[in-house]
Amino acid sequence: MADDFRGWSLKAAEWGADYRASLRERPVRARTQPGEIAATIAQSPPEHPEPMEKIFADFEDKIVPGMTHWQHPRFFAYFPANAAPVSVVAEYLVSAMAAQCMLWQTSPAATELETVVLDWLRQALGLPAGLSGVIQDSASSATLAAVLVMRERALEWQGNRKGLGAFPAIRVYSSDQVHTSVDRAIWVAGIGAENLVRIPTQGPLRAMDPAALERAIEADRAAGLLPAGIVACVGGTSVGATDDIDAVSAIARRHGIYLHVDAAWAGSAMICPEFRHYWKGVEHADSIVFNPHKWLGAQFDCSVQFVCDPDSLVRTLAIQPDYLKTHGKDGIINYSEWSVPLGRRFRALKLWFLLRAHGLEGLRAMIRNHVSWSEGLAARLAAAPGFEIVTAPMLSLFSFLHRPGDPSADVDAHNLALVAAINDDGRIYLTQTRVDGRVAIRFQAGQFESTADDVDVAFAAITELALASA
Ligand SMILES: Cc1ncc(COP(=O)(O)O)c(C=O)c1O
Repeated sequence: MADDFRGWSLKAAEWGADYRASLRERPVRARTQPGEIAATIAQSPPEHPEPMEKIFADFEDKIVPGMTHWQHPRFFAYFPANAAPVSVVAEYLVSAMAAQCMLWQTSPAATELETVVLDWLRQALGLPAGLSGVIQDSASSATLAAVLVMRERALEWQGNRKGLGAFPAIRVYSSDQVHTSVDRAIWVAGIGAENLVRIPTQGPLRAMDPAALERAIEADRAAGLLPAGIVACVGGTSVGATDDIDAVSAIARRHGIYLHVDAAWAGSAMICPEFRHYWKGVEHADSIVFNPHKWLGAQFDCSVQFVCDPDSLVRTLAIQPDYLKTHGKDGIINYSEWSVPLGRRFRALKLWFLLRAHGLEGLRAMIRNHVSWSEGLAARLAAAPGFEIVTAPMLSLFSFLHRPGDPSADVDAHNLALVAAINDDGRIYLTQTRVDGRVAIRFQAGQFESTADDVDVAFAAITELALASA
């Protein structure tokens, strides 16, 4: 294989380019049944080498048909996981070098590029100087790191050593619109699900009620519990719920507790100044996460966490056994001390390639298109017979439902059947959610190759299939 490395790398590159060019001809979602792919794969490992020709042919014949095409221009489900071609190229280079970038000395370029490129991103998002960034593997990890810091800060840095048994219960506050990664961070941090206090939401953006938040903190403190932090969201996963960061951050400051803002999806849109009102006040947060691996186009994994006090992160997470001591000059950053895993991929390279090849204006143009196409589709569906907009567009995400012709029919079941029919049809891919207990169909535009025509196809597919199922 080593001899053929060049040849197979070239073949893989050719394959990737052909694949991207052919996406519009493919159904967006895989059309296989559970177990169908596994049944085609040998059930035990080969004792002897197999030829690459056969391995590659099996990849094309057995694996590709079982893939859902996240880079498809008519992928309107979940949130996007864009991998701009230029970031794929950077990832190839990273894979070829395969460096572990946990310490400055294990790859100085990776550390130094990460510092510089994250400062580019800070500027691009309009965040103040002084915030420091780190690339985490996922928003879930960034949120876990933030929750661990809020815990340690509340325990005066004693929790890692003493465990939690010696202290009053730690309390963290969020709405019920935050991503499940917050629940998991709370479990993993040993805080306990019962100590994640859910604050009721209000208004069309389903924002935490600031007065209720403040009352909850005060009541907990009066009861001898330990309020530690708030996790706020900007662009929640279900329907884009967005907290009033200005109000929430004022409460966090007043009570001396930590504020982490999860803008995993919506953060990318903040490169456009006109959308920054959605996170007004974010400069007062202690920690912010956003995922360039969602909307911005840096392929998974690439989640950026900005913190105003990196020392707190390092104080919470750094372990320095002798074999990791670097004896470097002062001021060296070892990013593994800012995150839970030790090993680190070189993730900054794809951001550097992406930002240079597209330029901020190129990226803004794409995001602005997505937002305006989504608003246009919401307006068209609102005017189409039987359709209702359930939640208005937040950036490029909205939700809707279709009312069946028979008024006694089960609306939830009808909409679940409609989503299934749309996805089986293959032209587009959508997902559903629940809003106030009722099924709603989500639509988000965000794929880099999408055009206005693709959104027209979405309108045609949704309305045709709704008519057929009414
Ligand atoms: C708002 C929000 N936060 C966090 C996450 C988790 O992201 P990751 O997969 O990077 O952990 C998601 C995933 O969709 C999300 O939508």
